[in-house]
Amino acid sequence: MAEEKKKKRRKVSLGKLRGMKRRGEPITWLTCYDFPMAQIMDAAGIDMMLVGDSGAMTVLGHPTTLPQSLDAQLMLTKAVLRGTQYAFVVGDMPYMTYEMSHEKAIENAGEFMRIGCDAIKLEGGARVADTIEAMVKAGLPVMGHIGLTPQSAPALGGYRVQGKSADAAKKLVEDAIALQEAGVWGMLVEAVPPETMEFIYDAVDVICMSLGAGPTADGQLVIVHDMIGYFAAFRPKFVRQYCDLTEILDKAFKQYIEDVKSKDFPQPEHCYEMSKEELDKLGIDVGD
Ligand code: KIV
Repeated sequence: MAEEKKKKRRKVSLGKLRGMKRRGEPITWLTCYDFPMAQIMDAAGIDMMLVGDSGAMTVLGHPTTLPQSLDAQLMLTKAVLRGTQYAFVVGDMPYMTYEMSHEKAIENAGEFMRIGCDAIKLEGGARVADTIEAMVKAGLPVMGHIGLTPQSAPALGGYRVQGKSADAAKKLVEDAIALQEAGVWGMLVEAVPPETMEFIYDAVDVICMSLGAGPTADGQLVIVHDMIGYFAAFRPKFVRQYCDLTEILDKAFKQYIEDVKSKDFPQPEHCYEMSKEELDKLGIDVGD
């Protein structure tokens, strides 16, 4: 009987991502913030994971990403790395960890690489190009992030769609080119109209990922909590929800409460056993 040939799964590398771009094979990317989720996502076959500083909101309950510290971000990232065998893991540099000086940016980015990340991402266009250039010269695999950049939300006037005017679209193209010239291997474009994304995509050669920027991209990113229905504060227009974890968990928690209150739980199958011999020593008669 002929053995079915199984394709051996390998860790996703930058080379593999570039190959996918060349072949036009969409790259799948999700955010991830903890060990069990990383294990499930990795086993499902996701290509990339982003341990986003959005974890400040989705996991830690802050109203924005700004309070996220480097230590908190590294803690989430280590948990995800422990649960990941194959996916390409991108560490996300939190607010004010790369703005102070090139040296500080390199040192902080190095922390993510030291714990095992495959690359790091930071927000901003032309404004951070010289920082990125210094980081790339130091040997760091840097990914850019333009469009809606949540760390600048206060300066952008909130979480708003970007690149809606011709001028704004042109400015984003300039940002994308500045990032490419600074040496990024890829960039994420967030919350812009598809036409603006097409304009950006055509202007650069590096891997271009979309988060709410339409289909013209080398792949798609979504915040995992949005697509599984596990974040109540808001759900962006560009998210397709695949399950409602809030509803599933609500049902489970209510059932547990009911079972304990009604003494339906625990049952004998949930209890440990003691031998008859030991029970005899305690004078407990369990019969024959
Ligand atoms: O922190 C994050 O998850 C991000 C996304 C918003 C892209 O940077």
